[in-house]
Amino acid sequence: MSEAPELIRGLEGVVAAETALCDLDGAGGRLAYRGYDIADLARRATFEEVAHLLWRGDLPTKAQLDAFSAELVAARPIPDGLHAAFRLLPKAADPMRALQLSAAMLGALDPDAADNSPEANVRKAMRLTSQLATAICTHHRIRLGKEPVPPAKDLGHAANFLFMLTGERPPAVNARAFDASLILYAEHEMNASTFTTRVISSTLSDMHSAIAGGIGAIKGPLHGGAGEAVMLTLKEIGRVENVDAFVEKALGAKRRLMGFGHRVYRAGDPRAAVLRGLAEEACRLSGEGMWFEMAVRLHERVNRAKGLIPNVDFYSAPLFYALGIPVDLFTPVIVAGRIAGWTAHLLEQYQDNRLIRPRGKYTGPPRRQFVPLERR
Ligand code: SDX
Repeated sequence: MSEAPELIRGLEGVVAAETALCDLDGAGGRLAYRGYDIADLARRATFEEVAHLLWRGDLPTKAQLDAFSAELVAARPIPDGLHAAFRLLPKAADPMRALQLSAAMLGALDPDAADNSPEANVRKAMRLTSQLATAICTHHRIRLGKEPVPPAKDLGHAANFLFMLTGERPPAVNARAFDASLILYAEHEMNASTFTTRVISSTLSDMHSAIAGGIGAIKGPLHGGAGEAVMLTLKEIGRVENVDAFVEKALGAKRRLMGFGHRVYRAGDPRAAVLRGLAEEACRLSGEGMWFEMAVRLHERVNRAKGLIPNVDFYSAPLFYALGIPVDLFTPVIVAGRIAGWTAHLLEQYQDNRLIRPRGKYTGPPRRQFVPLERR
């Protein structure tokens, strides 16, 4: 190893690990999970099938899916202690704080907490995937002063999420759109939050600690926090007629427009294309087509003015809004999808681990003699 390491800002383009989970073609704008194109998965699979694919290597047979889904359903309830913790939080607490607290507290209460074996980690991956969904909805109901809605045993993962959030069983078309969005968010190679979970697990720390770290990373507006920011931008613009003037003013002020640009995709984010179709239908069905029209016009104007592409968070914003998801729950919802990919990466990291420890390039003062206090 040369002692004059080369600085690569943001580790752009650095390959930090080998992975069999996700094939991300940035130049071609293509994405596949273990060889299956995400457009096919989003349109034809369920989140449960994709979680099985990521954790166990292939799409399940019917019998495997029934057994796998039953395990996820059984893992949905959360400990009473978490309800108590949510009641202690200020009503205005950021739901991402509640989510990070949930990962840590579930780690304290998990029966396999001290077991880092592959078998225990698969069990923890399933529990975290089911329990964090319940935690998001439970915290939301408690902060509204409402009773939590217990998970339904007869609904799939996506439909049950919407049920626990609203207390109403969702229309099949909404559950399907939400299922597809969880699939599209499930995995994305070495993004900042996934890398964070891998760094933490590379020290042989436990899965819950790594997930708590991933939640802290995805919270940022340059990452998972962008979805919420996109919806706030659309609300700031207010009407389709205002888009052109907004874009001119924003770009003139060199404002960073959330939902646009990507570190890896240059031609386009394939997830945005699928989410655009889902958002169009959901906005039309909810009678809020304006948000979709505004998003399309914003997309066109920003792309024309700056060549920026909409990323995954751009069209998921009007979609989630049309599905009745509160804006400050957009990032927790992204976590509800990405937990599948994070835990799949952790299984990979533990299986072939090497401590992740890059270098820093020193730019401070040259070596110098210590000066005692009385002479400073
Ligand atoms: C996600 O990595 C992943 O895979 C992430 C993700 C996943 O699934 O895990 O895909 C999910 O996080 C999507 C990205 C969500 N974030 C946003 O939408 C925030 C807005 N986007 C930008 O901040 C930015 O595009 C990043 C952070 C996404 C990527 O930034 P880079 O690769 O560091 O690029 P950059 O900031 O150096 O920008 C390059 C140029 C700059 O212009 P110059 O200063 O060279 O003139 O493009 C401009 C930037 O100003 N630019 C933008 C812009 N994004 C880039 N200008 C205005 N608005 C933007 N959104």
